[in-house]
Amino acid sequence: MKYVVVSGGVISGIGKGVLASSTGMLFKTLGYKVTSIKIDPYMNIDAGTMSPLEHGECFVLDDGGETDLDLGNYERYLNVTLTKDHNITTGKIYSHVIAKERKGDYLGKTVQIVPHLTNAIQEWIERVSRIPVDDTGLEPDICIIELGGTVGDIESAPFVEALRQFQFRVGKENFSLIHVSLVPLIHGEQKTKPTQAAVKDLRSLGLTPDMIACRCATQLEESTINKIAMFCHVGNDQVVNVHDVNSTYHIPLLLLEQKMMDYLSTRLRLSDIKLTNEDKHRGSILLSKWKNMTGNFDESMETVKIALVGKYTHLQDSYLSVIKALEHSSMQCKRILQILWVEASDLEPETQESHKTKFHEAWNKVSTADGILVPGGFGLRGTEGMILACKWARENKVPFLGVCLGLQVATIEFARNVIGIKDGISGEFFPDVEESKQVVVYMPEIDKHNMGGTMRLGLRPTYFQDGTEASTIKKLYGSKDSVSERHRHRYEINPNLIKDLEENGLVFVGRDETGNRCEIFELKNHPYFVGTQYHPEYTSKVLVPSRPFLGLVAASAGILQEVLEGEFEFQGKDEQEAQF
Ligand SMILES: *[C@@H]1O[C@H](CO)[C@@H](O)[C@H](O)[C@H]1NC(C)=O
Ligand SMILES: *[C@@H]1O[C@H](CO)[C@@H](O)[C@H](O)[C@H]1NC(C)=O
Ligand SMILES: *[C@@H]1O[C@H](CO)[C@@H](O)[C@H](O)[C@H]1NC(C)=O
Ligand SMILES: *[C@@H]1O[C@H](CO)[C@@H](O)[C@H](O)[C@H]1NC(C)=O
Ligand SMILES: *[C@@H]1O[C@H](CO)[C@@H](O)[C@H](O)[C@H]1NC(C)=O
Repeated sequence: MKYVVVSGGVISGIGKGVLASSTGMLFKTLGYKVTSIKIDPYMNIDAGTMSPLEHGECFVLDDGGETDLDLGNYERYLNVTLTKDHNITTGKIYSHVIAKERKGDYLGKTVQIVPHLTNAIQEWIERVSRIPVDDTGLEPDICIIELGGTVGDIESAPFVEALRQFQFRVGKENFSLIHVSLVPLIHGEQKTKPTQAAVKDLRSLGLTPDMIACRCATQLEESTINKIAMFCHVGNDQVVNVHDVNSTYHIPLLLLEQKMMDYLSTRLRLSDIKLTNEDKHRGSILLSKWKNMTGNFDESMETVKIALVGKYTHLQDSYLSVIKALEHSSMQCKRILQILWVEASDLEPETQESHKTKFHEAWNKVSTADGILVPGGFGLRGTEGMILACKWARENKVPFLGVCLGLQVATIEFARNVIGIKDGISGEFFPDVEESKQVVVYMPEIDKHNMGGTMRLGLRPTYFQDGTEASTIKKLYGSKDSVSERHRHRYEINPNLIKDLEENGLVFVGRDETGNRCEIFELKNHPYFVGTQYHPEYTSKVLVPSRPFLGLVAASAGILQEVLEGEFEFQGKDEQEAQF
């Protein structure tokens, strides 16, 4: 196993995650199997209880682990499936060590940060890095470890010390370190002092950078590279230039141009790992696909406008996976994505009374969009506005996708305006209302793996029902009989209403194994009107977009039929370039 640590200096939030996942993706293009571990120096044990306002979206893994958005980044770039153990936090490590101490595993010795905690960190890394993460079911060859925060913080100190020891534990040729630093532009001049200081800090803690990745607004000048190389005691080829690019999907290609892989391959003696021709072939196909898919941004391409009707739409991080799924789908459809952010409550008539401009602006976006998306969310505020957006999409035959809460509000709209349950509501917000008016009800899952848990969390199967062969969404999923997607919800469509809804055209084509829980609906006689109780965005990959999202974007771009018929193979701009 080869380990590549990605650490950060100067400040956080300069794209360490993207750099780490891009590096991992490049190792995959050489044919290696790659996994990743994220170290977060926080005391929290899981992200389920953290506020999305503070932390952005809560990302759900197959195993039901609730993490923040970074693990999602790795899954999307590396096309892998991670577990909650792939995220190490200070809280998790401490509780692990304390539990061992309580069991008497330390034989009454004094338990200390060094060596007990640092050993626990190293053991954790060694154990988790060996978990197979892709469909080969084999142990990965390379593990990318992203160390959150910046080196030198109090929080990250035990992890830095653990990694210092780790380089000797696994051996020099099995460990390398990429330090991500910032080169600010002051009056047009590229300043290297912060990077010099950051590397000095790193060295004083016993770690040596193999590569210094410099984030800068502009391309690094030759003189800047020379200066960094000289003052940080590295070769010029160890300084990589990561300037701002139009799309983060270009970063792997930017690193490749600078021959980063050549350096790392030699440094890590990758030739020791035996690859079959098939592995190499798979890698080169991956690179070619990546280039074809991401290299194709062209200003002459048409745009596709999707109205995203949500809550707190000014906090776009809370919809990160949704945005990514839309991006992946539009790349596949060769369209430039334009998201129209609509605050759901602005669509409500009350807003018109208090703030006419907001109301008109919001409706202007909804009515000019090519497609409408109502993503998951929580809380009552804004749901009436979402219901109005669903009604617009349904009546005007605008392509629509509702995810989780989005499926629920679309069903409430249908129950109210088509089947005549005038005051239909969600039991989530009005638990005291009589059952016949609750379109959405509480259905806790009794499941022996998750005793006492009230939330349906993680991977669950959905079965397409009999007689759904003509269903668009089923075809999008490749006409499989069942699909597994990630869930995170407590409430469901009231099973007593299914018959009425279906007779009126809202067909629940996908259900759980009991047939009572509605997982996917599709409206008849509409170009694309689909809802999913699960969150398909969590499993969207750069090269394998989530199917329901692909359907939405394709229908909005008017090419759904071509996509369904598989005529929409991606073609690269330049054949020469696509050659590996
Ligand atoms: C890992 O878990 C911690 C604790 O809940 C959380 O704060 C952090 O955001 C998670 N990180 C990732 C990458 O999921
Ligand atoms: C992504 O992973 C899935 C399952 O692990 C695999 O079937 C698929 O071929 C992979 N796609 C790419 C583009 O590597
Ligand atoms: C590097 O890892 C390989 C395979 O695990 C091992 O055989 C080798 O001894 C390691 N190198 C060093 C210097 O420890
Ligand atoms: C980035 O976008 C600008 C303007 O939209 C364009 O001129 C430039 O060529 C693009 N750069 C790349 C690397 O695509
Ligand atoms: C990428 O595009 C080129 C040129 O159109 C094509 O020959 C190649 O097959 C494509 N690669 C993949 C993996 O689809």
